[in-house]
Amino acid sequence: MSFSAESSPNIAFIKYWGNRNDELRLPAANSLSMTLSSPTVSVTVDHSDTTVVESSKELTATDIGRFEVTLENIRRYLINLGHETCIPGSLSIQVDSKIPAGIGLASSAAVFSAFAKAIAGLANCGLTDEQISEMARLGSGSAARSILGGFVALENTGDTAVARQVAPQDHWNLYDIVIAPDTSHKKVGSSQGHRAARTSPLFDKRIQEIDRRMAECSDAITQKDFEKLAAVTEEDCMDMHSVMQTQNPPLHYLNDDTHRIVEELTALRTEQHLPLLYTMDAGPTVHVICEESAKDTVLAYANEQKGCQVFEASVGGGAHLV
Ligand code: DP6
Repeated sequence: MSFSAESSPNIAFIKYWGNRNDELRLPAANSLSMTLSSPTVSVTVDHSDTTVVESSKELTATDIGRFEVTLENIRRYLINLGHETCIPGSLSIQVDSKIPAGIGLASSAAVFSAFAKAIAGLANCGLTDEQISEMARLGSGSAARSILGGFVALENTGDTAVARQVAPQDHWNLYDIVIAPDTSHKKVGSSQGHRAARTSPLFDKRIQEIDRRMAECSDAITQKDFEKLAAVTEEDCMDMHSVMQTQNPPLHYLNDDTHRIVEELTALRTEQHLPLLYTMDAGPTVHVICEESAKDTVLAYANEQKGCQVFEASVGGGAHLV
């Protein structure tokens, strides 16, 4: 019998950048994100004589290799838990993504959280969400957070890292208005970027700041204090980009459009006292997180941006079997 799971990306307020173990994608520090309601990716797994990966989008040999390595690491993880017989030696894997191309929304978080959830369905050995999140992390670090809905921390504990819900989906009605400027040159992916994070002279300082930022961010969410959330999120985003820009080789993900949009949005926020904040991941795309009262103004601004794709999401419920 086949098992399908659906999931979506998340947007981090406190970013994950750099690993303490690259193979297991154990993050160097904790992170905290909001799971998005859309766009969705669904992954179906079934028993098969050989492992085959098929997708609605064209997959490269590297993409297919990543599924194979993740499956092997998940199998090892389950064996360590004592579940030798739960998971077959090979699987057929079907990926269907509704994530628009070029929107700058990383699909890996959605894909590998759905993959882990579907495997957990097939394995049927009573895995907890924490364990499924550990399985998702083996495919993509940020995927560990999309297993849960609402506001989610990924925290290092002992020799692992585990996702924990800071607040549920219905706690705070926030939106992510995604403004994606056109980008022609191919970017270096996060997996490669994480590996070189430590070469930045700013990396150690960043790691020292994370616990304080995690506490501030978590408090801001619990208290629904938007100003506090904006201050700590923007501080962490710019700090991560400073690390990226000073690592070897340097990664310059932000472009002129990004800087212009950020400047215009902060001016709009001051003029109209709007609850909005900006944050950017490994690309020039600006995520504008806002409360309901700022949504129409942000959407109107976003739709005025020539050559930019716009996407809107609210807080999502995390990976689930379908
Ligand atoms: C900048 O989870 O995409 O978006 O484990 O290689 O898939 P891989 O990395 P990924 O890294 C996320 C980097 C980030 C920040 C974040 O989402 O926390």
